[in-house]
Amino acid sequence: MVDREKVLEIIEGYRGQDGILIQLLLDLQAEFNWIPREAISIVSEQLRVPKSQIYRIASFYKAMSLCPVGRHSIQVCMGTACQVRGAQKVLDLTGSRLMIKPGETTHDMSFSLRRVNCLGCCAMGPVIVVDKDYHGNVTAEGVDRIIERYD
Ligand code: FES
Repeated sequence: MVDREKVLEIIEGYRGQDGILIQLLLDLQAEFNWIPREAISIVSEQLRVPKSQIYRIASFYKAMSLCPVGRHSIQVCMGTACQVRGAQKVLDLTGSRLMIKPGETTHDMSFSLRRVNCLGCCAMGPVIVVDKDYHGNVTAEGVDRIIERYD
């Protein structure tokens, strides 16, 4: 159940302004760590914006999620340069340590794991990004150390 008052408070912060839908949705994402269906209904009724438009935006932007995600987001780069340097092993190891597959979230909602394309720092490969922290030249031992830091 979403905290209706919190959603209304976020909407109030933008009341009377134009072109705020993306920023408002980003605020909801930051508050709940995802954008619950109930929050979308509240935004739709309060701003008189069709739900379909909100869903279109929320599913377009990678920074927004329409399903619950873990407290920490782990992204493993599977771009060519990182693959050449062992990204598949890093991804497999990360998944087996967390006991999830890419696209899944741990049962305790601590971590979500995703495979992503080139993150633009190929010389550091293989690269893992946890939340906003970049970890480069990741080794098998490094995977454990990185996960422990956020556990
Ligand atoms: S391929 Fe991984 S950062 Fe470019």
